[in-house]
Amino acid sequence: MKSIPLILMGCGGVGRQLLQHIVSCRSLHAKQGVRLRLVGVCDSKSLVVASDVFTMDLDDAFLAEVCRVKLNGSSLLTLSNFGQCEVFSNTESMEKVTEIAARLGKSTGLALVDCSASSETTGVIRKVIDLGCCVVLANKKPLTSSMEDYDKLVSHPRRIRHESTVGAGLPVIASLNRMLSSGDPIHRLIGSLSGTLGYVMSEVEDGKPFSQVVKAAKALGYTEPDPRDDLSGMDVARKALILSRLLGRRINLDRINIESLYPKEMAPNVIPVEDFLLNGLPLLDKGIQERVQKASSNGNVLRYVCVIEESRCEVGIQELPKNSALGRLRGSDNVLEIYSRCYSEQPLVIQGAGAGNDTTAAGVLADIIDIQDLFS
Ligand SMILES: NC(=O)c1ccc[n+]([C@@H]2O[C@H](COP(=O)([O-])OP(=O)(O)OC[C@H]3O[C@@H](n4cnc5c(N)ncnc54)[C@H](OP(=O)(O)O)[C@@H]3O)[C@@H](O)[C@H]2O)c1
Ligand SMILES: *[C@@H]1O[C@H](CO)[C@@H](O)[C@H](O)[C@H]1NC(C)=O
Repeated sequence: MKSIPLILMGCGGVGRQLLQHIVSCRSLHAKQGVRLRLVGVCDSKSLVVASDVFTMDLDDAFLAEVCRVKLNGSSLLTLSNFGQCEVFSNTESMEKVTEIAARLGKSTGLALVDCSASSETTGVIRKVIDLGCCVVLANKKPLTSSMEDYDKLVSHPRRIRHESTVGAGLPVIASLNRMLSSGDPIHRLIGSLSGTLGYVMSEVEDGKPFSQVVKAAKALGYTEPDPRDDLSGMDVARKALILSRLLGRRINLDRINIESLYPKEMAPNVIPVEDFLLNGLPLLDKGIQERVQKASSNGNVLRYVCVIEESRCEVGIQELPKNSALGRLRGSDNVLEIYSRCYSEQPLVIQGAGAGNDTTAAGVLADIIDIQDLFS
């Protein structure tokens, strides 16, 4: 039986769902001859680790308790009395993870799984890569900082997986890697990679006011608590940067042209979110409505997309033919059109739910299983 020791960083919606998937897949994985062994779990404030990472794991009852505690909004510190584990505070926890990586890296190996939404994990991820360990990421931040960090993270391509950073569980990165490694050059990527903005653009196409659509999306739980986090385009830009770098472009986030759907005067540091929803948003209705009508008179529709082509990398609203995969998109699905030598006239299209704890966590789990050959 192959055994893969894991440390999970982040127990939010995705991290907890991953723990649940791991537990419910126990017998499936056993049939495949793999066992996932949780040796540590951390959030923003603390780290819990099995008291002996070589011989002991955080068992399934412990993991259920982790999920319960975090769902209640409590701290992992409350677990110090539950089972055989050690608890470390924020200041020591990254050092402790590095220390475990140093020990396990030499013997059984370790996979560090980043389901946080923090840029602060980059340092420890760089270190564990150097120590011979593997990393699996749902977190985009470590892959979208400096080129130097990126080069370090991908310096051992077999030891890193990050499928869920773009399109959640959709096989975007895997498909692109297969094409690239078979020598099929990709000349154009165009995609709607935000479920929120996909929903918003298809609703305004039906003539509904932008402000109402954004409020409805918020009510449906499609947006971040402050919808400007989605409307700024930053999240799409990070995905665009990950795709560009995968295609070999050596660029940073500041090289991407990003169209924000609200003006600077309505930025979070200028007006509070309630004010934005009540007074700011309605001022944007007319502009969007005019653009929708102009596109429609050309027989086109508007989509909020990323476009990657030669040296160009842009994120924003584009007018696209109605009769294309992106033009036909309705609701919150993600769609990516890939144009290459093999797919030159008609693109390869990847479509489906591109967000959600369940699909994202499933993508992370599949990534972990995908690196099993590196473990004994
Ligand atoms: N949800 C989706 O549909 C989706 C789709 C694709 C990708 N993703 C990505 O998946 C990641 C997780 O998403 P989520 O929705 O689960 O986020 P979330 O609910 O906000 O959870 C984030 C978790 O990370 C922890 N954390 C923050 N800083 C940390 C640090 N420095 N070290 C260790 N842990 C830290 C938080 O700790 P506390 O509990 O102490 O706050 C929290 O448990 C994000 O990067 C997101 O962009 C999400
Ligand atoms: C993901 O998990 C978070 C935290 O538990 C929850 O608030 C959110 O509704 C979940 N999202 C979906 C789409 O299930």
